[in-house]
Amino acid sequence: MAHPIRIAPSLLAADFARLADEVKSVEQGGADWLHLVVMDGHFVPNLTFGPFVCAAIKKVAQQPLDVHLMITDPWRYADAFLDAGADLLTFHIEVAKNGDVPALLAHIKKRGKKAGLSVQPDTPVETLAPYVAQLDLVLVMSVFAGFGGQKFMPSVLPKVARLRELGFTGEVSMDGGIAAATIATAAAAGTNVFVAGTAVFGKPDRKAGIAELRTLAGGAAAGS
Ligand code: DX5
Repeated sequence: MAHPIRIAPSLLAADFARLADEVKSVEQGGADWLHLVVMDGHFVPNLTFGPFVCAAIKKVAQQPLDVHLMITDPWRYADAFLDAGADLLTFHIEVAKNGDVPALLAHIKKRGKKAGLSVQPDTPVETLAPYVAQLDLVLVMSVFAGFGGQKFMPSVLPKVARLRELGFTGEVSMDGGIAAATIATAAAAGTNVFVAGTAVFGKPDRKAGIAELRTLAGGAAAGS
């Protein structure tokens, strides 16, 4: 199941004083998806934005919104983000005890959107096994969720192959410390969606940054 390489700039690293310009900049630079980081200050120590900002981004975005809910209660907010224009909605397996995971995944898909689960670096990927048939996407965190600019954790790389052993055939995304120095290893491990904040928004030339990441991912994937 060869999935296309997708570069998904993480808006956490964008200049929020010029968000519309930043969205246009990375889309003109070749971004495939826009990665929106929703943090509630509870599941993760950071606090970002809600459906209101997602809807504002939707107004100016051309590319799909890949919305990552780093929140304790995704059941409460899923519809608000779907109404606000999320095209993919991913929540964390670590909050599974708070609600019905299959029901939420089914609800997202019933609304015609793609459903994903994300796993923190220290959570075994086997926790996703009961849901692989329902998932369109798995987001493997290569840093502990909450902040940009952290160091890539290669220890998570084997999770991608393990997902395939568990029967997952959908898209695998990796998020955290993805940059020129690390993207090839992520691609070689079987990742096809690359979430990058600093490596894209930290560069004045977003087009060059995205192109470099795509080239490095493509080269590695071909070789894997
Ligand atoms: C962290 C966020 C990431 C983060 C990535 O919790 O989910 O998307 O913004 O930032 P970099 O690419 O700088 O590690």
